[in-house]
Amino acid sequence: MGEVNVNGENVNELLQAQAHVWNHIFSFINSMSLQCAIDLGIPDIIQNHGKPMAITELVAALPTLHPTKACNVYRLMRILVHSGFFAKQKLGDGDGSDEDGYVLTSASRLLLKDNTLSATPLLKSMLDPILMQPWHFLGTWFQTDDRTPFVTAHGEMLWDYCSHDPHVNNSFNQGMASDARLVARILIDKYKEAFEGLNSLVDVAGGTGTLGKTIADAFPHLKCTVFDLPHVVAGLQDSGNVKYVGGDIFEHVPSADAVLLKWILHDWSDDECVKILRRCKEAISSGGKVMIIDMVVMKNKKVNEQGLDLLETQLFIDMLMMVLMTGKERHEEEWATLFSAAGFSGYKIIPIIGLRSLIEVYP
Ligand SMILES: C[S@@+](CC[C@H](N)C(=O)[O-])C[C@H]1O[C@@H](n2cnc3c(N)ncnc32)[C@H](O)[C@@H]1O
Repeated sequence: MGEVNVNGENVNELLQAQAHVWNHIFSFINSMSLQCAIDLGIPDIIQNHGKPMAITELVAALPTLHPTKACNVYRLMRILVHSGFFAKQKLGDGDGSDEDGYVLTSASRLLLKDNTLSATPLLKSMLDPILMQPWHFLGTWFQTDDRTPFVTAHGEMLWDYCSHDPHVNNSFNQGMASDARLVARILIDKYKEAFEGLNSLVDVAGGTGTLGKTIADAFPHLKCTVFDLPHVVAGLQDSGNVKYVGGDIFEHVPSADAVLLKWILHDWSDDECVKILRRCKEAISSGGKVMIIDMVVMKNKKVNEQGLDLLETQLFIDMLMMVLMTGKERHEEEWATLFSAAGFSGYKIIPIIGLRSLIEVYP
């Protein structure tokens, strides 16, 4: 059979284009299905079962499931097996049946409630309807002078919104704290030497202090200051070698041997970053350093062993910064330009945190 054309297009190419478009129209279904599994408590239920869990057992164990929805649970599980959050293993009941049961994967283990490194708080905060709504305003934002699509949707910047909405403020801070727990463990376990020779450290815009406290516990001689907006640190008690200070990173950063900026500079535009970096330079002594934890955007597409497109994930977060904040994710050259504009003499990129790196910057 010869080549078939529809509207002048090769039919195979046309159908491939349709599949591509459909995949992108419906990509949000991955996020929403995952959120649903978390809402229903499925990872914890499978974990508590202790062995591969048959669909009938899972349905029976879902405490809030309405009986009319029991027949749909396997469909939710099917897409989540496909997206790598669950796997199937033989039940091995000894009854000769060939039935599979669900088990967790490393991705769903990272969402368990009792996992101290759980990413569930980050998932909940990022998929909160208040943070999702601005995505519907992205196109409008491009046609206005609003600072962010969040402003187009809600009339004010995210940080101002957080200052009067305790639910969004807590959810956001918990999301950040969950990420900080993982990053703290990696820094302390994989790159202790970063803290050697330091007597004091400021975690700049350190949220509610998860990273600062964990570092302070691991290095008891180190005086740690957690510095963030007054409404974020309000009510948090100093203890041991950790103290909290409220303020504005554009005005003044408390002095220390080193300052840490985790997931801060990607929130801000280049001009804003240069201002923050200048404040940080004023805060450290000549032998000190600024420690940045942020992404260095890959030059080329990179797929990991599980087939996950790592560059795509970096680009997702770059778009997230456009929608929620005034920031962006940066290539190495963009970082270097910021550092020299803020008066620093050198930097070192230490790629030890997955999609992100530790970047040390020297005065
Ligand atoms: C993306 S969060 C990162 C929090 C923390 N470093 C972490 O990674 O877990 C950004 C933080 O910047 C803080 N922030 C925003 N504007 C600030 C300002 N002008 N001065 C001080 N902190 C600020 C926010 O309150 C928030 O805690």
